Amino acid sequence: MGFKAVVFTTAVLAVLLSSPALSQRSSPAAPAPVSLPPSTAPAPAPAPHYVDLAQLLSLAGPFHTFLNYLEKTNVIDTFQSQANRTEEGITIFVPKDSAFAALKQSTFSNLTDDQLKTLLLYHAFPRFYALSQFRNLSALNPVNTFAGSPYTLNLTDDMGSISVQSMWSKPRIASSVYATDPVAIYALNKVLLPMQIFSKDPPLAPVPAPAPEPGAADTPSPAASKSGGLTDSRDSSAAAYSAGVSVASCLMLAAAGCLMVMW
Ligand SMILES: *[C@@H]1O[C@H](CO)[C@@H](O)[C@H](O)[C@H]1NC(C)=O
Ligand SMILES: *[C@@H]1O[C@H](CO)[C@@H](O)[C@H](O)[C@H]1NC(C)=O
Ligand SMILES: *[C@@H]1O[C@H](CO)[C@@H](O)[C@H](O)[C@H]1NC(C)=O
Ligand SMILES: *[C@@H]1O[C@H](CO)[C@@H](O)[C@H](O)[C@H]1NC(C)=O
Repeated sequence: MGFKAVVFTTAVLAVLLSSPALSQRSSPAAPAPVSLPPSTAPAPAPAPHYVDLAQLLSLAGPFHTFLNYLEKTNVIDTFQSQANRTEEGITIFVPKDSAFAALKQSTFSNLTDDQLKTLLLYHAFPRFYALSQFRNLSALNPVNTFAGSPYTLNLTDDMGSISVQSMWSKPRIASSVYATDPVAIYALNKVLLPMQIFSKDPPLAPVPAPAPEPGAADTPSPAASKSGGLTDSRDSSAAAYSAGVSVASCLMLAAAGCLMVMW
């Protein structure tokens, strides 16, 4: 009986010593701690914020129609120098190309140069506004635009859907294209049409109803769901390894138990 006990104790001790926790503590070849990248020098102060509006609008969008009008009238320079005044900044409402396409060509070709300039300036505030500030701005309706005093807009927030209201249109803010102080650019699904320029409701282009835009309920981007996976793989293989070790330990214990019984 004493001999059996010795055998059993030896078996148990062998199992315990082979278990990862103990062997790690006793092994001199324990894995080195994960080395951190060498700490870098303090980051240099950020350069003054400069946003190239023409470049931004040509890359985002499609906003080609609006950008073409801005460049034709040089209003792009007015906007850019306002964007350069970083303590004030600028907010621009940019109608998508489809918004211009929905209106008759003559709507814009009939305008004088000054009217076209004013219409473009009407699509901006000479100040940076984050979307979160629009709820407060709507208490100040009507809000002055870059076009000056009689040219005002009303901002409305219908259950979180923010619209910009002019006399003849009430475009919805379709997306926030860029919103980092001092520059905010929001895409509109319609052109703003102030009554000072359009004495009556401008006619729509005689085209069939456009195909519905891709729904707002887009599928979540795969990148977001992917990002967590990679960092986990090493941990899970380590877990699989230690699970294997414990299975082996259990088998050894069971074998020792059998030995004990058979003795
Ligand atoms: C805005 O600032 C940039 C960079 O400082 C400068 O190159 C550009 O000429 C300025 N544009 C206007 C219209 O003031
Ligand atoms: C543009 O001008 C033409 C000719 O002057 C006129 O027939 C047309 O109704 C005008 N269109 C708009 C939208 O004002
Ligand atoms: C909105 O107005 C309230 C009260 O005037 C103020 O406390 C809050 O900070 C404002 N929010 C923004 C985003 O400006
Ligand atoms: C904007 O709001 C003001 C004050 O609520 C109102 O008097 C005006 O008619 C509105 N303008 C438009 C274009 O909706």
